[in-house]
Amino acid sequence: MKQIFIVGHGGPEKLRLRESHDPSPAGGEIRIRVRASGINFADVLVRQGLYPDSPKIPCVVGYEVSGTVDAAGPGVDQSWIGRDVLGLTRFGGYADVVVVPEKQVFEKPVLLSYEHAAAIPVNYLTAWQLLVVMGSLKPEETVLVHNAGGGVGLATIDIARHIGATIYGTASSGKHAFLIQRGLHEAIDYRTKDWRVELNRLTNGKGVALITDPLGGNHWKKSYKALRSTGRLGMFGISVATTSRLFGPLRLLPVALGMPFFHPIPLMNTNKSAFGVNLGHMWRESEMIAGWMQILLKGVADGWVRPHVDKSFPLAQAGEAQTYLEERKNTGKVVLTV
Ligand SMILES: NC(=O)c1ccc[n+]([C@@H]2O[C@H](COP(=O)([O-])OP(=O)(O)OC[C@H]3O[C@@H](n4cnc5c(N)ncnc54)[C@H](OP(=O)(O)O)[C@@H]3O)[C@@H](O)[C@H]2O)c1
Repeated sequence: MKQIFIVGHGGPEKLRLRESHDPSPAGGEIRIRVRASGINFADVLVRQGLYPDSPKIPCVVGYEVSGTVDAAGPGVDQSWIGRDVLGLTRFGGYADVVVVPEKQVFEKPVLLSYEHAAAIPVNYLTAWQLLVVMGSLKPEETVLVHNAGGGVGLATIDIARHIGATIYGTASSGKHAFLIQRGLHEAIDYRTKDWRVELNRLTNGKGVALITDPLGGNHWKKSYKALRSTGRLGMFGISVATTSRLFGPLRLLPVALGMPFFHPIPLMNTNKSAFGVNLGHMWRESEMIAGWMQILLKGVADGWVRPHVDKSFPLAQAGEAQTYLEERKNTGKVVLTV
């Protein structure tokens, strides 16, 4: 098998292709010949030494793949063999072979290419948890999607559009036309304007019902203030850590120091709530995840789940693929192909 290892913290040069023997599936596991692997911002954070859940280095990252099953371990339904699938991997996805628990594998919709199938698990499950499960978004409400042009951002737009809500989003200006075409009602260029001022203008000073915020630190304070009464803030990432000029673990310091503390009394008196989402801490809830996934895969058939792959890179060019994300060039998903 071929795998991309992170051999140390630093730039894309810390990614190395290594070869080893194919793994065999143990009881309850399935082996997948990978055709495409999804890249997530968390993978970049691991390489930069900024990801709290990082496995010990050297490691192979990657949370999701699509491909074809070629072996099934004891106790597993052998009819999986030969089927096209997509699956969640608890790391190890940057590879041409993975072994994963059966409960994390789902049949690939025939409508989707391998690349598009690999773009579904992390982005759509995260967006589903944010908007539907914990955010309770309703058709008459307005949601503000930060980082609307990213992988999770586009999935969030798909789901909010399906719900029928009004959708505002922040993104670099070059992505706005595409986002409007995808269903965003108003795009805000947060890099040249204060998004809060723009949002106040758009909502006549009222604020919005739900905000999805993967930026972290004091950005969460600003988002919380931009909620209207009964508003919910969904926090799910710390992208701002990458812009810190400090070194090593110190880079997380400004993020940690800027974070809000939610005291019950102000929460009560402002009629607002704040919640966190971390899909990487949901492994023990596989039945719940499987239930969400069935809805999303039906959404593919019904046409409202529309994964968008911006760019594919060969597995050996994982460094270039991560750089593309870091340089904010992506609109939607970036995948590795075998
Ligand atoms: N908690 C969870 O379960 C979970 C799951 C998936 C993702 N996430 C988090 O959600 C966020 C988005 O993840 P993703 O995989 O969908 O990535 P992504 O959004 O596809 O890729 C990066 C994009 O983020 C924007 N961005 C904002 N601040 C940035 C910064 N400081 N440096 C680089 N890019 C920045 C850029 O778009 P613009 O130029 O348009 O701003 C860039 O194109 C990340 O923080 C990630 O860790 C969390």
